[in-house]
Order: sequence, then C-alpha cells, then structure tokens
Amino acid sequence: MTRPTVFIARQVFGDIVDRLRPHFDVRTHDGDAPLTQPALIAALQGCAGVFITGSEKIDAALLDACPQLKAVCTMAVGYNNIDVPACSAHGVVVTNAPGVLTETTADFGFALMMATARRIAEGERFLREGRWKHWGVDMFAGGDVHGATLGILGMGRIGQAIAKRGHGGFDMKVAYHNRSHLPAESEVSLGATWMTLPELLRAADHLVIVTPYTPETHHLVGAAQLALMKPTATLTNIARGGVVDDAALAEALAAGTIAAAGLDVFEGEPVVNPALLALRNVVLTPHIASASVPTRRAMANLAVDNLLAALGVGPDAGKPPTALNPEVLRS
Ligand code: GLV
Repeated sequence: MTRPTVFIARQVFGDIVDRLRPHFDVRTHDGDAPLTQPALIAALQGCAGVFITGSEKIDAALLDACPQLKAVCTMAVGYNNIDVPACSAHGVVVTNAPGVLTETTADFGFALMMATARRIAEGERFLREGRWKHWGVDMFAGGDVHGATLGILGMGRIGQAIAKRGHGGFDMKVAYHNRSHLPAESEVSLGATWMTLPELLRAADHLVIVTPYTPETHHLVGAAQLALMKPTATLTNIARGGVVDDAALAEALAAGTIAAAGLDVFEGEPVVNPALLALRNVVLTPHIASASVPTRRAMANLAVDNLLAALGVGPDAGKPPTALNPEVLRS
C-alpha cells in the first residue's frame, strides 16, 4: 500500500518533522519564507496533508487545485488565513494550535504594553544614538502600569492570561469587552468587569487587543474608537493586523489622541505602514508574541499530533486533538 504524502510548508524543527517519517512520505520546503501561492499548489500535488503556519493561504482555489488534500494543520492559533467553510465543503479537516501558546503570548503582550507605557524602546534608541547627556526630571516619563486600568479587547484564553497578570501581579483594575461574558466566578478571580466597547475605550489606561481577526472585527478600532480613548492611554495589538486601522492609529499617535502604541501585528505585514515607522511613540515588533523556543516547539508538536491523527495514525487516529471542523471526519 502506498503511504500518504504530507508537505511541510516551512522550515520546522527537524526532530519534530521526523515524527512523521515512519508513517508518511514527507516532502519539505526548507525555506524560512512562505512559498508563493502557485508554488504551494504545485508542492501540494498528491499530498494528503499539509503542515502550515499563519502565513500560508488555504482558500477554495487551492483546494480545487489539490483534490487529494485531506488535512490542513497549522501551528498557529489564529486561522484567518484558512477558509474553514471551504475546507469543510471539500472534506478537508483543519486543525490549529490553541492552548500551548497562551502563557508565552500573554507574557509578550504584557511586556509590550509595559515597554509602550514606560517608553523603553524610545529610551533605548536615545541612549544608542549617543544623545544621553544627563539624568532628566521628566526624561521619558510615561504612564504607570501598576494600579492603572487594563482594558482587554477579546477575552479568550490569552486575554484571560493577560488579565491574570494585571490583576494578580500589578494590582490593575481589569475591564474587558468580548461577545460573551465570562462566567461570574472567572470575573471574580480575574477582578474583571465587562463593558461595551465604547465604555472600555473610555476607561482603559492601557488597551490590549487580543481578539481574533474576522470580517466582524475588521477595523474594530479605527478613528472613531481611538477618539474615545484618553490622551494618556496606550494601545497594544498582539491580535492580527486589520483589527486596528493602522492609518487611523498613526494619525491618532501623531495628533496626541492617545499617548503611545505597541504593535506586534500589522495590516499587510511584513510591510509596515510608513506613517507608523516615522513615529517615536510606537514600539514595533515583527509578529513574535508566541516566539519562545519551548512554545514554538510545542506549537509545531501539536500540529504534528493533529496531522498524524487526521490521517489515521496513533492513539488519536481519526480524532485530531484540536480540529476546527471535526464534523468532516465524522461524515
Ligand atoms: C500567531 O499569531 C498565532 O496565531 O499563533
């Protein structure tokens, strides 16, 4: 019997990819950059499964062109790059990687919020440029984090892990907006209060955005929403580019509508809006919130667990642990 073929669309930890080799013919793209769409389609010919990241686009056109595909397994938790309904219609199971990156991503979100509030990147640039001549009374004076109001937009796993840090570690008041309310006991343990989005924007000293990117959350924070925020407030986005209108944000930062922003994700990344690059009061990082070595390995391992199970191998055969459309395998 011929073994199924799987494709690893990006360079991934070799020992983790090796877990697939006893069961499948494994093809790899040993590059650090994503393939173009035609190259991805060409590489997937004859493949039953694919391991992807948050960058590869899986849409109806690709699925039409790759009729043998049965499983799409991403090592990311976000899956706005995958048309899940189209996958279901093509009988393709999709899995993502929730849970394993929660704490690492929350650490980073908190760090980025703190760097933004306390002007760490600005101070570092100033020092490296040789401009530091003496201690200054209000030199790089920013906002406090401890005791301030932490506004969380999107209260899933990562939002709750950020709330835990703010409430438990920094004595912050926690407010959140989410489609659904947390259970009352979680609100109590996180010290968190649900607010409407306008209420949250008005109340937050530090707004952290962690909501998934969907058609409903496109430009959820634009000029009108930024105008509701305090002039001393900061905004941190570790969700996805597109949840925030980057052009409107750059205007708000330049005009002093809000004090500062910390951004790990961008509309059209890796291209960054030049208006943001020109500003001093924004901390910019290249989509690295989940990038600790143990967590990136855990994400890759979970994608491999899913790929094995989706293609009928191992203790979870037929039941990938984190399938987004498990009904495909039941039908
Ligand atoms: C990273 O952005 C992820 O979705 O895992």
